[in-house]
Amino acid sequence: MSEHQRPQSATEPTSTADAPVFTPRKNGQAQAPSDELVAWMRTGWADTEMRDLKPVEQAEYTARRRAALGARFPGERLVIPAGNLKTRSNDTEYPFRAACDYVYLSGDQTDDGCLVFEPRTEGGHDVTAYLRPRSSRENGEFWLDGHGELWSGRRESLQESAALLGLDTADVRTLPDVLRDAPAAPTRIVRGHDSSLESVLNEVRGGASPAQEERDAAAERDEELAVTLHDHRLIKDEWEVAQLQQAVDSTVRGFNDVVGALPKAKATSERYVEGTFFLRARVEGNDVGYGTIAASGPNATTLHWVRNDGPVRDGELLLLDAGVETTTLYTADVTRTIPTSGTFTDVQRRVYDLVYAAQEAGIAAVAPGKPFRAYHEAAQRVLAEGLVEWGLLDGPVDTVVEQGLQRRYTLHGTGHMLGLDVHDCAASRTELHLYGDLQPGMVLTVEPGLYFQPDDLTVPEELRGIGVRIEDDVLVTPEGNRVLSAGLPRRSDEVEAWLAEKLPKA
Ligand code: GLY
Ligand code: MN
Ligand code: MN
Repeated sequence: MSEHQRPQSATEPTSTADAPVFTPRKNGQAQAPSDELVAWMRTGWADTEMRDLKPVEQAEYTARRRAALGARFPGERLVIPAGNLKTRSNDTEYPFRAACDYVYLSGDQTDDGCLVFEPRTEGGHDVTAYLRPRSSRENGEFWLDGHGELWSGRRESLQESAALLGLDTADVRTLPDVLRDAPAAPTRIVRGHDSSLESVLNEVRGGASPAQEERDAAAERDEELAVTLHDHRLIKDEWEVAQLQQAVDSTVRGFNDVVGALPKAKATSERYVEGTFFLRARVEGNDVGYGTIAASGPNATTLHWVRNDGPVRDGELLLLDAGVETTTLYTADVTRTIPTSGTFTDVQRRVYDLVYAAQEAGIAAVAPGKPFRAYHEAAQRVLAEGLVEWGLLDGPVDTVVEQGLQRRYTLHGTGHMLGLDVHDCAASRTELHLYGDLQPGMVLTVEPGLYFQPDDLTVPEELRGIGVRIEDDVLVTPEGNRVLSAGLPRRSDEVEAWLAEKLPKA
């Protein structure tokens, strides 16, 4: 399809009480359609308006989450947008991925959607999902609009979405006027997803040119909403834990696929690794949850190596950091560093085993009531001890750790929360998260690493260009923790046994 002048005659914006303004977006039709064609296209279609749909399985959980959020903001209007399609180039768009807070509260993933919590005078909120309805046959939207159903596929009708989500629904094209005409109430929006709705609220909240003070106050209030949502998302309910386990299980299968494809990767490039994993992510899930890092040899010392265009050589280490995102948008985040020949060299094993020991110490420090930072500190201490023992750093270890000198080689933190976002709940309050204690239901990664840059003259030559990270996904349980990714071998001898079994013989 290419972009052409869109037809005007049949698609002048139209509006009736029931059908709000329809402004056609680009489509690929070269010629304006004749009036005869337009008239004919209106007729001859079966009625498919209402299918018998069961609620999404998380509906009871999203209802609880909405109740918890509403209780935190009594008497206030809350606006939580899904986001809009983003242009990739010219008339093509990136695959749409709905905003996490919207998904968390609604179970819906459609572009342009928006949840509105409307405060009731008697207390509580009425929550409505504002959505794009099915595209009209009457005004031609279904075929004349570049995002009409004929181009993009059938959408749910508003009644169908209400049944699916367990929510009241309304036409999102009415939302700007609904917000403009709504009774005065303190209003907050989750920013960064729908600039046109933010503009409407700017208008409503402060007039055309609100004073700086009002803008700052609105920004602070909106930030409080975003922080609260991330606070609530810190503790996963049982349905979310099951989704994360599913993401991890698919990811484990993806890692096995990659091992089976190593000969082809050696014949081509790291892209073969990326592509092999992506196939699993697309077949079993929605996508990958973040850009796959397929880093062979010295590329593994670049933390976010997502170019993945280097060679995969025999005898090197391949660092694969990848996660499947489920169709419900929960992601895994797993790393394995594997010897491409099947066995570690002595020096590779030495580095790997130290990272493994650090990860063991980190995982052991994951338990309810322990500070979030404890597992990072436990892992960093093991790495610092090893680096001092190897003579790369001068002890004592306490001083090394106090001054953070090991970080020249460890580079990043030992983990983060995991959920709908790979770096989940990043905006949550520091006293609940970074400087808080772990609680059952939190899911986090434990991912120590050691990275010796190819040009680092402070390390012996044999270490230069070696990068190792081991990353697992861990649920905090009432008793301690459960490693969700335990299905993938971790210890160096287990990794070798895994490769002996799965690596195709030359
Ligand atoms: N893949 C990014 C991370 O491990 O945090
Ligand atoms: Mn990772
Ligand atoms: Mn991670």
